Amino acid sequence: MSPDLFDLTGRVALVSGAASGMGKASLIALAEAGASVVLADIDDEGAQATATEIELLGSKGVPVHCDISSPEDIRAMFGRIDDEFGRIDFVANIAGEAVRKKPEDISLDEVEWTWRNLVYGRFCMCQEAGRRMLAAGKGSIVNLGSLASITAMGRGHIAYSMAMGAVVQMTRELSTEWSGRGVRVNSILPAQVLNPGLQERIDSDPRIKERFLSGIPAGRFGSPDDIKGLAVFLASDASSWITGAIIPMDGGNLAMNAGGSVGSEVFKE
Ligand SMILES: NC(=O)c1ccc[n+]([C@@H]2O[C@H](COP(=O)([O-])OP(=O)(O)OC[C@H]3O[C@@H](n4cnc5c(N)ncnc54)[C@H](O)[C@@H]3O)[C@@H](O)[C@H]2O)c1
Repeated sequence: MSPDLFDLTGRVALVSGAASGMGKASLIALAEAGASVVLADIDDEGAQATATEIELLGSKGVPVHCDISSPEDIRAMFGRIDDEFGRIDFVANIAGEAVRKKPEDISLDEVEWTWRNLVYGRFCMCQEAGRRMLAAGKGSIVNLGSLASITAMGRGHIAYSMAMGAVVQMTRELSTEWSGRGVRVNSILPAQVLNPGLQERIDSDPRIKERFLSGIPAGRFGSPDDIKGLAVFLASDASSWITGAIIPMDGGNLAMNAGGSVGSEVFKE
């Protein structure tokens, strides 16, 4: 297969969550494949550090302060992309926080805050990007979801799950509306990927590690770098007929029956 299929030279990619984790890893992979990148985050210092790494790779990296729960911030950022690049080829919506509380305790304000982050934020980014990509007749968008997009987590994930379920339906609707006009929209659903928050929870209670790993047949947590290949693939012409896809990145979690599956080492004939 020609490596040109994955070449992003001359393309402009925007990723939210640029300072850390999967956002940062995606940006580095996109820059390594030749894209110029826009780095959106509320952590200005972290985004600048990622931009510095990207400049060292020889690509252009523009950090932008953007709170993805603010439509004003998002619209201002796209205005800046218009001025600076005059095009947008790929957007990855990765950042987004949630309030975790039991369904009987969470307030409607907390549910709304979560939706502003995960649903309205992603939708506003898709709308701004989509308008420009439709005008250009080409583009690709990725909305990060979660296992919670299509299965229930419990443990206070009600607001997060409702929002992530909406993210997957948003992806299917936008793909259906836009793919005939050249704009592809896909989702990635990660299982547990090690980030500072998850690491802290594991360190505070080792049973959490065992419990989570029992749901991952591949036998390890995800690393932020696990998203690199998918980010480049979905941004590139290698995925030109892939749209509306909901892609697990989960070490086999979703393929496994939660209650009845046991590893081959446990099952004896
Ligand atoms: N890590 C996982 O296990 C996992 C699994 C499934 C889905 N997710 C989702 O993916 C997202 C990224 O996960 P990660 O592990 O890379 O996280 P991370 O904590 O390593 O990075 C998140 C980044 O988003 C930025 N951010 C937070 N709120 C923001 C906002 N309102 N506007 C702009 N930037 C903001 C943070 O400053 C940080 O740089 C999570 O927010 C989560 O919703 C994570």
